[in-house]
Amino acid sequence: MTENVKMPTHVAIIMDGNGRWAKREKVNRLAGHNQGMFAMKEIIKKADVMGIKYLTVYAFSTENWKRSQEEVGGIFNILVKFVASELKELSDNNVKVHILGDYTQRVPEAAINSIDKAKKVTENNTGLMFNIALNYGSRTEIVRAVKDLAEDVKNGILTPEDIDDEKISERLYTGQENGNIPDPDLIIRTSGELRLSNFLLWQSAYSELAFTDSLWPEFTPEEFEKIVMEFTNRNRRFGGREGKI
Ligand code: IPE
Ligand code: IPE
Ligand code: MG
Repeated sequence: MTENVKMPTHVAIIMDGNGRWAKREKVNRLAGHNQGMFAMKEIIKKADVMGIKYLTVYAFSTENWKRSQEEVGGIFNILVKFVASELKELSDNNVKVHILGDYTQRVPEAAINSIDKAKKVTENNTGLMFNIALNYGSRTEIVRAVKDLAEDVKNGILTPEDIDDEKISERLYTGQENGNIPDPDLIIRTSGELRLSNFLLWQSAYSELAFTDSLWPEFTPEEFEKIVMEFTNRNRRFGGREGKI
């Protein structure tokens, strides 16, 4: 890494392909999710070492409830296991855990308790912010923000003219309630699917996108680093003129 490389501040990942990995390896889907947890662990470490300040992972969407009870329950059990086995190391590494999404709705109690513990244990940490998007859906997030603004207008706290980009941003999950997380500079999706699947729709307005055919459980820290370094060579214009931003 050279001195002048502009590293991303915030990298977000759509961790996709656990099911296809399991199928390929002839194991059940939950074994795929379990393997995905190991991949996630390694990426957190790598992001931290690389000096990335915010890492957000899409772990469970508002649409993922459509899956079988067995799969959904298994995914949350894996999360509980992840917190039990990793919380100490995460905390020792000064990682701060946030959740994006309504994790107290529909989520099994054991998972809610683990999350609350992870948040509490790491709340004063100042290193990498690790955000887990859980029961997360961008449209739900935007609807929630709009309702919140409408309430304020109804109560005379705001006028419609006061509403701007910033007012909307601050009421999203990435807003005030989680310390105003900056928009992702880079969004990576594994497994070859070329879509956002209701992830960070507002926040991704000017995010760079990267897609890889690797399935999430086989995604390595080396590939992560390669994608991030490729990002540093991109020319981000934000609607302005080349070289003039
Ligand atoms: C991503 O892997 C993890 C979650 C959505 C929870 P998938 O389970 O979607 O894997 P594929 O897309 O079926 O391969
Ligand atoms: C997106 O993956 C959600 C997560 C990675 C948690 P999905 O597998 O649910 O997305 P689609 O259904 O392929 O769009
Ligand atoms: Mg998928």
